This record gives sequence, structure tokens and C-alpha cells, in this order.
Amino acid sequence: MRARWFGLGLIVAAMGLGGCASKSADDSGGSAGTTQKDKALVLFSQANSQDPWRQVFDATIQAAAAKESVIEFAMQDAQGDGMKQVGQIETFLVRRPKVLLVSPTDESVKPAIDKAMSEGVPVILLDRGVSGDNWTAYVGGDNKEIGRAAGQFMGEKLGGKGTVLMIRGIANADPTRDRGDGFMESIRKFPDIQVIEGDDCGYERAKAQTYMERFLQTGQGFDAVYAHNDEMAIGALRAMQAAGTPKKVIVGIDACQLEVINLIQQGDLTATFTYPQPGPKGIELAMELLAGKKPAEKRILLPTERITQENADQFLKDNPNLAK
Ligand code: FRU
Repeated sequence: MRARWFGLGLIVAAMGLGGCASKSADDSGGSAGTTQKDKALVLFSQANSQDPWRQVFDATIQAAAAKESVIEFAMQDAQGDGMKQVGQIETFLVRRPKVLLVSPTDESVKPAIDKAMSEGVPVILLDRGVSGDNWTAYVGGDNKEIGRAAGQFMGEKLGGKGTVLMIRGIANADPTRDRGDGFMESIRKFPDIQVIEGDDCGYERAKAQTYMERFLQTGQGFDAVYAHNDEMAIGALRAMQAAGTPKKVIVGIDACQLEVINLIQQGDLTATFTYPQPGPKGIELAMELLAGKKPAEKRILLPTERITQENADQFLKDNPNLAK
């Protein structure tokens, strides 16, 4: 299946030139309560623009919004701080947006989403959800299915036996729960595989590297690493390389960086799974809402693709401009 990242090249290249210029609400030229003449205000609250996957997220959602002349789009980055994101959303609501898009840092952002809904502002959640169903629609990858696929791959790769260290993402972000639960669902089919529940390393490379350094010092045996994203998989790899640990099976998620695909081609990482970008579909849904159309379904799950040494070359051909 050809990865559907057409056009991403120009978007990411533009981002590369100008960095990921995430427009903040203040930059939109509008002040509280007003928008550019006759434009519908659509605002986006982003969890953390520092992550490589989110830099592609920001570039692709801004490019999709720029194509819609009837909307005024602005976004803000919560820098991974749930309480900061709550404040940013409350400030956004003062401007009475027609649609609010949110990629929540974690569950702590739920009260702001409830507030928007109580004020009649439709909320489209992107990539991460919150508990309950008090939101208009969700667009993102099927994290549980990605976890299941990663577990099945791991079980087969290990020949049904061995020990896997699982390095987890942000504890109360729902992709973390789902990527863990899905993985365990598949691993339970391999009774001779044990899983060590590793630390929450926040989806961050540096935290995962530090955690892996400590884990290696314990001398505990393991045969593989399953990291909830590629950044943490690379962090673990770097710690293992520094310690002279023999090569192990290492599986991550995102597949948005050239560095990761190159590491797979070299055999240093074993596999990753695409975590599909939800931004363009989110803008499409916002346009439908503006046209008075309710989303056909509440949860829109986007497909994933496994990348290994077998298909890495083709994946690069299909995605010539991955983030560096
Ligand atoms: C970026 C990120 C990705 C991961 C996603 C999960 O912030 O950590 O690496 O796939 O969030 O929501």
C-alpha cells in the first residue's frame, strides 16, 4: 500500500526552510473576539511542537488549512504541559472559534474540552483522545491495532521466546495505554515471551536513553525492546551502542524521520509503524462542520504500515521528504 503522504514533500521542505512556524493565536492579526472579515475562525491546540512527529503534524495541518480560503486558522503549542494547554484553550474560547481542534497533551486537558463543548464549540480531537465521549469527532491512528501489530511482529521475530523490555510513552496519554494493551494482547499468544514493563519516558529520546543506561547497569537479561515511539527507540539504541550491548530486536512507532528509516536499513532498528498524520483529515472535518454537515462517524481511524528492512527502500521512494 503506497503511503498516502503525497504533497508532504513540499510541506516538509517549506517547514525545513522556515522551521515549523506554528502560528500562534496572537500572530493571526486578530484580537480577542474578532476575525479577518467573513472568515470562520478555526483554532488548533497542539500538545507539543518539539516532537519530530508533531513538527510534521504542525506543517501538514497548517498546509491543509492554508488551502481553505473561508477559514482563519491559528494554533498554539502547549509545550507538553497539560495545564498550560487548558489555559490556552480557555483563551482560545474567548475568541469564539467556529471549530476547535485539539491534540491533548494527556487526560488533564479534558476539562477544557468539556468547557468548549458546553459553550457549543465543536471539538475535533487529533491523535490523542480523552476519556468519555464529550467531543465531536476523533481522527488518528488506531493505537491499539498498532500495538497488536507490533506484538505479533515481535513474537514472530523472537521465534516465540525471550524477554522484551517495553519503554512507555506519557503515562496518561491514551496512545500509551492502547499501544501497551494492544502489544500485550498479541504477546499473550506467545507464552514463552516475557515483557518487562519499563518506565514512562514521555515519548522523549533523552529520557529513554537515560532510562536504558540505568536498565543496562542492572544486568537484567533481555532480547528485545518495544518503544512506544521511534524517538525512545533511538534513545534506547544509543544507550545500548554506548554500552557495547550486542544487537537486539528494537521496534518503534511513527516512521516520520529519515534517521529512523536509515537505522532500519542498517539493521540497527528492526521495525517501525507509521503513525498517520491526522491534521489534513481534521481540517476536512472542520470544513464539513462549517457546512453544517455532522461527521459520518465519531472516530475516524487512519491506517498504519509496518516498515522493516524488506520495504524500507520502497517506503523512502514513496516518502522522499521525511523529516530529517
Ligand atoms: C509526539 C508523539 C509521537 C507519538 C504520538 C502519540 O508527541 O510522542 O511520537 O506517536 O505523540 O500521541
